Amino acid sequence: MTAPLYDSLQRFADSDPLRLHMPGHKGRMDGLFRDTASIDFTELPPTGNLYTGEGPIADAEALFARAGGARDALFFTCGATQGIYTMLAAAVGRDGTLILDRGCHRSVYHGMALLDITPVYLQPPLLPGLGLPAPVSGESLEQALAEHPEASAVFLTSPSYYGVITDLRPLAEICRRHGVFLLVDQAHGAHFPFAGLPTAVEEGADLAVVSAHKTLPALGSSSILYVGHRAPWDRLRLKSLAQIFATTSPSYPILASIDLARASLEGTEDYRNAAALTLEFRDRIRRETPFRPMAEDDGISLDPCRLTVDTAAGGLSGTEADRLLREKNIYVEMADPTYLVAIITCRDTRADLERFLAALKALPAGTPLRHEDALPPAPVVRQRIRTAVFGHGEPAVLAEAAGRISAQFVAPYPPGIPVIAPGEEITEKHIAYLKNKSYNVSGKVSVIPQARKKEDLP
Ligand SMILES: Cc1ncc(COP(=O)(O)O)c(C=O)c1O
Repeated sequence: MTAPLYDSLQRFADSDPLRLHMPGHKGRMDGLFRDTASIDFTELPPTGNLYTGEGPIADAEALFARAGGARDALFFTCGATQGIYTMLAAAVGRDGTLILDRGCHRSVYHGMALLDITPVYLQPPLLPGLGLPAPVSGESLEQALAEHPEASAVFLTSPSYYGVITDLRPLAEICRRHGVFLLVDQAHGAHFPFAGLPTAVEEGADLAVVSAHKTLPALGSSSILYVGHRAPWDRLRLKSLAQIFATTSPSYPILASIDLARASLEGTEDYRNAAALTLEFRDRIRRETPFRPMAEDDGISLDPCRLTVDTAAGGLSGTEADRLLREKNIYVEMADPTYLVAIITCRDTRADLERFLAALKALPAGTPLRHEDALPPAPVVRQRIRTAVFGHGEPAVLAEAAGRISAQFVAPYPPGIPVIAPGEEITEKHIAYLKNKSYNVSGKVSVIPQARKKEDLP
């Protein structure tokens, strides 16, 4: 097992250096932090420098790039969010235009606000019967590209939170033909190379970010930016952009945990075993409970390590199932009115899944609950996202806010697509859609203050 960064930090700690520098704990912390503190260094010759890209960090990044079939890989300590901002800064820049799937994570909207990017949304179709977004179609992408020749990049998310995988190859081909970059948020797919699945850059993306901490045995906030073979940016350009969006004191334990995760997984069957276990328990949940696990026979390509269970099919909302599971000290990744989403990794055991199954079996069941499959009404953009996000907001009751401009996201799960994003008008249609989704419309939202007339001013 070769882990250049982790090994180098450990060797340096073992050499008993006199640490007259940051961090202030000097490698001596109490309790559970004792071991971690010993490798929590700052930039020194034996530790390397993340943003100048040298030393053992660069060696560890090169090994990760090889694992993910990328030309290069950059480690980050501020989550996939840092990678998303970096991708947008590199491929779109300030004031550019981006074509993106409407269901992308809020960090993409935040990145667009920071860079004042103009969005062109691709509204994904719904998967019939599942109420979840389907992958974006090639036709809708072609159409958006034809209508917006000013766009410089396309941004897609795969896999989704629920585990739905988009076949990126044909979409990458379309982007290439139109001369635009393909950026992919593969935050939930960091384990793909270790489970035998292609990374987004292997499918033709120019840049793709993965959250190591979501599905690999790596510390919280760790992420990796993969650079595709044809991408025009060199690593120093990407690193110089990346550091704008992060701390100047990146955490060495976080960086080393990415290195150690790869080293401990390469050449093992750990994720293939996790996938086999997931498949087995999907089958058992289907046979032994009234609930319905999502499976490839739903006509979708699915992350083999995601256990998404439709509890509404057994008469119990995902949110209520989650509440009851928590009483048994069981915590899933996400719950919504229809689904429970459990992330399975190489660190879950058969006993863990038996415990989950036993708890599911003990949940009360009833008549299937069904939600109407409908896409949110089209967005009515009134302000640039940047203006809305960084402007002022005031509270208003959502049900009474028709005609007002939202200063926040309103995005019920499922499908997690923002019904209203910052800068968009709240219309009666949006309110009716949200009500139908059992969203609490009597709650408050933040809206842009209306321009007051001179005579109203105190
Ligand atoms: C699809 C997706 N992209 C990006 C992110 C941001 O990831 P991170 O928390 O690693 O910054 C998340 C977080 O949940 C996510 O679900």
